[in-house]
Amino acid sequence: MRMYDIITKKKHGEALSKEEINAFVEGYTGGDIPDYQASALMMAICLQGMTSEETCALTMAMADSGERLDLSAFGTLTVDKHSTGGVGDKTTLIIAPIAASVGCKLAKMSGRGLGHTGGTVDKLESFPGYDSSLSPEDFFRQVSEVGISVIGQSGNFAPADKKLYALRDVTATVDSIPLITASIMSKKLAAGSHSIVLDVKYGSGSFMKKAEDAEALARGMVEIGKSCGRNIAALITNMDTPLGHAIGNSLEVCEAIEVLSGRGPEDLVTVCKELATTMIRLCLEKSETEARALVDNAIKSGEALETLKKWISAQGGDSSYVSSPDKFRKSTIVHKVLAKEDGYVQHINAEACGIASVTLGAGRITKEDKIDHAAGIILYAKPGMKIMAGEPLAELHTDKKESLPEAEKMLLDAVRIGAVKPETLPIIYKVVG
Ligand code: URA
Repeated sequence: MRMYDIITKKKHGEALSKEEINAFVEGYTGGDIPDYQASALMMAICLQGMTSEETCALTMAMADSGERLDLSAFGTLTVDKHSTGGVGDKTTLIIAPIAASVGCKLAKMSGRGLGHTGGTVDKLESFPGYDSSLSPEDFFRQVSEVGISVIGQSGNFAPADKKLYALRDVTATVDSIPLITASIMSKKLAAGSHSIVLDVKYGSGSFMKKAEDAEALARGMVEIGKSCGRNIAALITNMDTPLGHAIGNSLEVCEAIEVLSGRGPEDLVTVCKELATTMIRLCLEKSETEARALVDNAIKSGEALETLKKWISAQGGDSSYVSSPDKFRKSTIVHKVLAKEDGYVQHINAEACGIASVTLGAGRITKEDKIDHAAGIILYAKPGMKIMAGEPLAELHTDKKESLPEAEKMLLDAVRIGAVKPETLPIIYKVVG
């Protein structure tokens, strides 16, 4: 089977066979197919698409390209959650302790932030001492005793995706529904949880700019998960604007603690409650009403907050920060950005806010960069809000004085103000599955 022929077939819009897809994934992962041929195929898939059979074959081949985590010791109690990425997305820090506090088991591998989106592991490492590289024995023991452990991506899980994602990232081939489907679902299938909840984002801060595209992506992923015997559902949520007020690692942890304490911004609370309800509904086979009541009670009783403390401390972190978030180090500079005109906030570009927070030190431009856990943005403005010139739109937190002018300009450009009160979109567009 020649790679040249596989590329040609896809270039002409023909469907690839399972054998051809397997040969490509094996050959590329094993180093026998060069990057230039793999990128040509990625581009052809971007332009010509794939049938659902092809997407399913690609997902399976990628999931089987390395190890699979065996979570069978926990029966059907394991549940995983995946977000397609966003700005201010701290939902895992909130929903994981809620779900674990009512009996779900979360054995989760999470990513670090790269580009304008943040990563859960970086946020967790805001807690001094948090160890995101536990041994497999400690990881399993903690899931069994606390109900939850979140570590960085380790081991040899879906290595085909690791290689292909890095290639797609630099060849403008990320935004393809079949390729995103195979990338996400191969990792989720290899990660072994029985139930899977996907948070598929759409809007300016995500790969899918339109809700309809996010829905097509969500439906494809749910179909593949079901065909592999998993309990799976997807929420399609708005990422046109950052989620909540906080962007940046320890700032987001503080906001997550707020939500677990029964407070917090409405958009974030709504998404978290819906995600946690869906996780519990799938994992513990509860009705929606029962699951919703369990979520409300986990927050109200303080059980979810207690579970967060146990989780952080089991993983070596200082859990006293959960009771006293004031202990998190503050940036040396906290600068208020003031509105230049009166009006209603029309839109806040999530991607631009993410890039501004990276400029302040909250994220990485290359994988080797060190991040500043205290840096980031607190947004006061939200779409629909009335604001007067001179009132604060946001606070910039940084130790890098030289980054302020650029970050302030980005932030001012990201917030659009107009005379008419805009219609704001609901935070949850649809639940699929
Ligand atoms: N997230 C992933 O894990 N893969 C993609 O292709 C896009 C978003």
